[in-house]
Amino acid sequence: MTLYTERLQQHLELIESRLTEFLPKGDGVGEIMRYACAGGGKRIRPVLLLEWCRICGGNTEKAIPFAAAIECVHSYSLVHDDLPCMDNSPLRRGKPSAHAKYGETMALLAGDALLNRAFEIMLSAENVEPTAALRAAAQLADNAGVHGMIGGQVLDLDSEGKQIGLDTLKRLQEGKTAALLVAACRMGAILGGGTNEQIENAGQYGYYLGLAFQVVDDILDVTATAEELGKPVGSDDTNEKNTYVSLLGLEQAQALAASYTAQAKASLERFADGADLCQLADALLTRTH
Ligand code: IPE
Ligand code: IPE
Ligand code: MG
Ligand code: MG
Ligand code: MG
Repeated sequence: MTLYTERLQQHLELIESRLTEFLPKGDGVGEIMRYACAGGGKRIRPVLLLEWCRICGGNTEKAIPFAAAIECVHSYSLVHDDLPCMDNSPLRRGKPSAHAKYGETMALLAGDALLNRAFEIMLSAENVEPTAALRAAAQLADNAGVHGMIGGQVLDLDSEGKQIGLDTLKRLQEGKTAALLVAACRMGAILGGGTNEQIENAGQYGYYLGLAFQVVDDILDVTATAEELGKPVGSDDTNEKNTYVSLLGLEQAQALAASYTAQAKASLERFADGADLCQLADALLTRTH
């Protein structure tokens, strides 16, 4: 399985080569910010952003600051997610998690600083139509916030050790994971100059892809090895998390992920040039990390 098509691989390489230019230099908190964003991640969100920008007719070069910004927000969310007060995880992207290496206080602050940096990057982007830039930044602010990622994390942590229903679990995963994937796709479509209908379709693709992505994340926590994932396995069970695996079992969770993937692909019907995003959805369903 290759996670990326040739075109998506090019987006990935672009992000890998450009990301650090948007981060602070020097030691201290800046070093931790670079550590948290350093290689090992799949870079799904920035790749989605660039590809949606492209298929809506935009210039991907201009969207790079926004791709960097969403990876900063995602990386901050991982730093905080791993903290002892959250999932208490010592390993991330194949390395000690930020707090395991630099201590909790500095990891917390580096996470905060990555979030601020993301907005600084977007609001300083040059050669981008100001209305589109503001709309994209507002989209990220909203989807990463109380009604999006943070809202989902609240539900996730609040539900530990409790029995919740499938409806609550879906809301939890819509928030903690799908919201940021929706943001990536919509931001790309906005920056690419997409029509409102295209932006809606992009959001719908991101939504179903995001739901599938988190179901697969839950499955891998049970079926994969720590070497493959670069993060501990079995941690959902240890933390008494509610997941699709704990609620439905592996087989039904896999079927659900396949059905969300089909819905993501159906959102591409109106796009003549959606083949790469279609392949990405399939690849993410069978990913091993
Ligand atoms: C992990 O995200 C957290 C979830 C939302 C499931 P990724 O699986 O995208 O993590 P990286 O960026 O590849 O490390
Ligand atoms: C994390 O979900 C979601 C966010 C970081 C917002 P998980 O807690 O399942 O992610 P992993 O498994 O630690 O990567
Ligand atoms: Mg978590
Ligand atoms: Mg976690
Ligand atoms: Mg997980």
